[in-house]
Amino acid sequence: MTHEDTAAVDQDTRTGWEWARTDDWQPPSELDTGVPHTARMYDYYLGGKDNFEADRKAAQAAIAAYPALPLLARTNRQFLGRAVEFAAGRGIRQFIDIGTGIPAVGSTNEVAQRVAPDARVVYVDNDPIVATHARALLAGRPAGRTSVIEADLRDPEAILRHPALCGAVDLSQPVALMLVAVLHFIRDEEGAQRIVRTLRDALAPGSALILSHGSPDFASRESAAEGTRIYKSASAPLVLRPRADVEPFFGDFEFVGPGLVQLPLWRPTAGHLRTTELPEGWQDVSAYAGVALKP
Ligand SMILES: C[S@@+](CC[C@H](N)C(=O)[O-])C[C@H]1O[C@@H](n2cnc3c(N)ncnc32)[C@H](O)[C@@H]1O
Repeated sequence: MTHEDTAAVDQDTRTGWEWARTDDWQPPSELDTGVPHTARMYDYYLGGKDNFEADRKAAQAAIAAYPALPLLARTNRQFLGRAVEFAAGRGIRQFIDIGTGIPAVGSTNEVAQRVAPDARVVYVDNDPIVATHARALLAGRPAGRTSVIEADLRDPEAILRHPALCGAVDLSQPVALMLVAVLHFIRDEEGAQRIVRTLRDALAPGSALILSHGSPDFASRESAAEGTRIYKSASAPLVLRPRADVEPFFGDFEFVGPGLVQLPLWRPTAGHLRTTELPEGWQDVSAYAGVALKP
């Protein structure tokens, strides 16, 4: 699709982005709107409009159980932006963002290509609506700089050998691998640690792992249990991991400062830890974030 064959260009009031859609644009056929979906629940936490009744109901129940959820989502997006800026700032020009989410303000390509216009971004998500939105968003933009792959994190080999990834990313050069708020949808039995090791092993020295993960460590036992229960009827279960189970995802990669920390504390203001500028209620954000480099 190019701008020439675009019938409508919608302005998304939340992101300020232009969404190019053809006349015959339809939600993807395999979309099941009756089951709450993790991407669309997250969109609801962020104040987005790309969600259906079932998503909203589940998201509202999750917020009732754990009121810091919208703040968690917002601070997570901010972490994503700062981490991408950090990686681009140290010369990384290739980004693989797995578990992309429905496009929102400050997406990876926006941030990376602002710092480095030649940065290449590959988005990977297993939700057809994410892929559809991302493709529509990218229509008419220079080809080859940003690609979208519909694939599942649970099959990392398929992602690594996907023609769209191989065409856009040179794995012999440093890459920023982004697993931001996605690993808590992968169960231990599905090989969460093996999956991340496979991806880490494929990267060149100097690559960065950018990761955030939901945790029970800063929430009440009741909130964590209720949140986990609500996600049991969603498209993926929620696996909140304590710090000791999140750290091993980084393998032998070396943390950059401040290390693996409670999510809002990852360089809250341009790399300087000035706690006075943290949002009210940040102590309740029950998630970890970290960035580490491959030696
Ligand atoms: C909470 S959103 C995070 C979006 C974005 N990374 C961020 O942090 O703002 C989680 C995303 O992961 C995707 N996801 C969940 N399980 C996945 C899987 N097994 N493979 C690929 N994507 C997955 C969902 O579709 C959703 O878009």
